[in-house]
Amino acid sequence: MRLTVIGCGYLGAVHAAAMAEMGHEVIGVDVDEAKVEALARGRAPFFEPGLNELLERNVAAGRLSFTTDPGAVRGRQVHFIGVGTPQSPSGAADLSYVDAAVEAMLPHLGHCADGQEVVAGKSTVPVGTAARLAQAIDPTGAALVWNPEFLREGFAVDDTLSPDRMVYGLPEDPGTAQRAQAVLDEVYAPILRAGKPRLVMDYATSELVKISANAFLATKISFINAMAQVCDTVGADVTALAAAIGMDERIGSRFLRAGIGFGGGCLPKDIRAFQARAAELGVGQALGFLAEVDKVNESVRRSVVDTALGLLGPEPGGARVAVLGAAFKPDSDDMRNSPALDVAADLAPSVGSVVVVDPEAGPLLAGREGLPYEVAATTQEALADADLVILGTEWRQFTTLDPVEAAGLVRTPVVIDGRNALDRSAWKAAGWAYTGIGRR
Ligand code: UDX
Repeated sequence: MRLTVIGCGYLGAVHAAAMAEMGHEVIGVDVDEAKVEALARGRAPFFEPGLNELLERNVAAGRLSFTTDPGAVRGRQVHFIGVGTPQSPSGAADLSYVDAAVEAMLPHLGHCADGQEVVAGKSTVPVGTAARLAQAIDPTGAALVWNPEFLREGFAVDDTLSPDRMVYGLPEDPGTAQRAQAVLDEVYAPILRAGKPRLVMDYATSELVKISANAFLATKISFINAMAQVCDTVGADVTALAAAIGMDERIGSRFLRAGIGFGGGCLPKDIRAFQARAAELGVGQALGFLAEVDKVNESVRRSVVDTALGLLGPEPGGARVAVLGAAFKPDSDDMRNSPALDVAADLAPSVGSVVVVDPEAGPLLAGREGLPYEVAATTQEALADADLVILGTEWRQFTTLDPVEAAGLVRTPVVIDGRNALDRSAWKAAGWAYTGIGRR
């Protein structure tokens, strides 16, 4: 099939490559010329395992190309909207990119000879957005489907090619809904053949599925981080607690890792956007708990800073702190709302110096000016003469560090395991004073 993907950021670039991999002929459209130029050479403008290979292979096969021309939409059958919906100053989602994408495609819709034309929205939007956009799109003859994306950074390629489930939010008119569903089924045929479930619902429910999934995940993390605070107070161990409660299948063991909390481009902004939208709709009270989820998440970052200052003693002014990690999670170079960087920046004014190291985000950071911390090129360089080491992002190269070797590099072997990801007994055996989160 002949498809377009509007917006070639995280979501769109991966989606375009994955659709081409499934055999479709795909054009990615983005306003950013540099991004388009890189993608057209088979290079992702961000780090995501497996994506460059996918891009290269499909660009070379002639199934995948990129352009800044929204006219690429004309005559093609399915147009995915994958633009960002960042947080606006009020906390609500900023829909200007979504609106601009629809406006740019409108003059080119209604020229498809391949069959029912479909616009498929993948961006995370406030409930009610699809119904509003459908009013603009319907007169062209194209049908709007809301088809949220659930990919995780670091696993984006696999998550797109082999999702847990697919969700279609369909138009009210049964005939249009049926035709649109058939078209998306054809797009996703290889995924459906692999037995992945496809759930069909109305627009509003499909929009809510996405935002409530992220709200639930955020709640789970803040729940375990709240338990960590209680554990710290009474000398209990949150990792043992999480392992035990996670064995109850109703709870489940995933997303119960206590630490310095969630960051990234999705969870923090989504829980705020969800609260803002609920307030607009007059049901703000129902989501009051999300404010607490946010508060717990912010407080775990602060408590790592407090713990660090406590460990450094009354005169931290001469101390050097090494923060391992800058990305909001491993296998990503994304530093949006990164807990590790937040801790580094918060500590910097109170200590002698802070040095940050990260295998993928580090080089990006090194190019920035006016940072309150130094950026090291290697872990060894970061550890050199440190008085305190903080694990901020659980990259494999950090969690598999040899604690004996590391102890030989630092000035004082004191570590805060901000992700509860180090082998505590091995670090203690190597002479480190170890502090985890919720496991004193
Ligand atoms: C998230 C959702 O998982 C994904 O389905 C959605 O499409 C986009 O948002 P992502 O932002 O890539 O994906 O990261 P995710 O793996 O969910 O992690 C989010 C944050 O939570 C990270 O900072 C991670 O370190 C933290 N986290 C995760 C924890 O602190 N504890 C956990 O147990 C799990």
